Amino acid sequence: MAARRVKALLAGRLQQAVRTAFGADEPVDAAQLQTPPPPHEGDLSLGCFALSKKLRKPPAEIAAALAKALPPEKPLAKVQAVGPYLNLTLEAADVIQAAFGPAPAATATGTVVVDFSSPNIAKHMAVYHLRSTMIGNALCRIHRALGWKVVGVNHLGDWGTGFGKLIVGWKRWWDPRQEPTVTDLNALYVRFGQKAKADPKLEEEARAAFLALEKGDGESRRLWQRFRDTSLGEFQKVYDLLGVSFDEVSGESVYEPDLEPTIALLRAKGMVSESEGALVVALPGKEKPCLLKKSDGATLYATRDLAAAISHQKRHAFTRKLYVVDAGQSLHFVEVFAVLAAAGFEWASRCEHVPFGILRFGGKRGRTREGGVVLLKDVLDEATSRALEIIRKNSPDLADAHTVARQVGIGAVVFNDLKNKRTKDIDFDFDEALAFEGETGPYVQYAHVRACGILRKAKEAGIALDPAADLSPLGLPEEKALAWRLSLWGEALERASREAEPSVVAGYVLDLAKALHTFHYKVPVLKASPAETAARLRLMDAARLRLAEGLAVLGIAAPEQM
Ligand code: ARG
Repeated sequence: MAARRVKALLAGRLQQAVRTAFGADEPVDAAQLQTPPPPHEGDLSLGCFALSKKLRKPPAEIAAALAKALPPEKPLAKVQAVGPYLNLTLEAADVIQAAFGPAPAATATGTVVVDFSSPNIAKHMAVYHLRSTMIGNALCRIHRALGWKVVGVNHLGDWGTGFGKLIVGWKRWWDPRQEPTVTDLNALYVRFGQKAKADPKLEEEARAAFLALEKGDGESRRLWQRFRDTSLGEFQKVYDLLGVSFDEVSGESVYEPDLEPTIALLRAKGMVSESEGALVVALPGKEKPCLLKKSDGATLYATRDLAAAISHQKRHAFTRKLYVVDAGQSLHFVEVFAVLAAAGFEWASRCEHVPFGILRFGGKRGRTREGGVVLLKDVLDEATSRALEIIRKNSPDLADAHTVARQVGIGAVVFNDLKNKRTKDIDFDFDEALAFEGETGPYVQYAHVRACGILRKAKEAGIALDPAADLSPLGLPEEKALAWRLSLWGEALERASREAEPSVVAGYVLDLAKALHTFHYKVPVLKASPAETAARLRLMDAARLRLAEGLAVLGIAAPEQM
């Protein structure tokens, strides 16, 4: 019986127990049955707080009464009230069976479009871009693992009035025979800002330059293309390091031809009005309207997001569209979704902003001491060299230490980003992220290394892994704890998808890693009877595969040695 079925069965029995003990009909939902983090007693636990409110009795009294009313029959081995909790211990054989039964099928049938990473052209990928990139990447992989069709989209910021400024800056201050870097482009942009303060004519010029670009002027387009290629080249290096790819790189510029039709569509619905020369959509209950076009005719970020959403719905008929963008843009998405809803698109409700908190670096918002941004590439490189130092010290003979250092260093940075609820702000600290103990990437990777090590030693001792080995010798608490964690995978993925929350998967692999480390510490695998060895090797193999799979879903490598 899969873990899900076990929970549903027990929820039903608990509801019956509530009836027996209190004569009341209160629903008990399977989702209320939690697995407490190791090393807690009990495989499932019901906190009696919700029932306490409904039945108007202290939770501890309810837990005690339910413990009496719930018969400890299969798959239950023990029922115990501990304070406000009712702890349910499962029969070992049932737990083992749940872990090794057929894997949950990837049966989801929807299409999800994930808009993520989406950096701006002519700017560097800064450390804060890590969040959207890795949360979005994990959401793509979580949905793929569940069987969804996934379209990962990089909605590059490659259009807008900023490009007018850049073109003006380029024409005035750059020698076109020189190949620019992103740093150069960024410097031109900054210089424009400084000069424009003293010379307001420059702003005029920039507006004209952007309009020329929007109208398709040849030279402007060529320059823009050059800026875009230069930036993409740099972004790609970071994506390669992170192992991130996209199904669609359709920046804002792609929707340029769709903007007039989008405005016309909204106009036909009577939604568009003019305000001081600008085109706006008034939103019911909102003070400020959504701006579609400025008085000078330039279109805006929101206009392009409207066009992009309509285009994605047309092309992919998505069941869900996730915008992985920092919480600072919440109002923007409220506006965009409200316009779509007002236009009568029923699918507007299937668009979700997936916000996340700030990434602080050294206490500041990812700024260097000089006030510049901290580059993501630099952080990944530093994490790698720090990991190399640690590895050199711990395992001086490790082959291919550089590759492993990259996997461990970058994995540490990524895990640190994904382990907390995404809306929480995070403080990044190299030492903390790279520690081999605690809630870290290396800690999880090391559990995988241990499982691989045991399997390797077995092989060296001439003991082959038997994928059909009898599992009945398994039953120790540590074996059971590990097996129960294995069986919770399908649920973890589903919850992560439902809540668009990769931290659920991070929590899952952490708990699994903890269970594996404890097992490794307490239970001998090779120094045991042949039947025990064979069963434990199967358990190690399943844990190894699942740890690697869980890490892969998070976009983290699982080295075999470190
Ligand atoms: N380029 C934008 C920025 O850096 C993020 C774009 C997010 N996606 C979207 N569809 N608006 O702020």
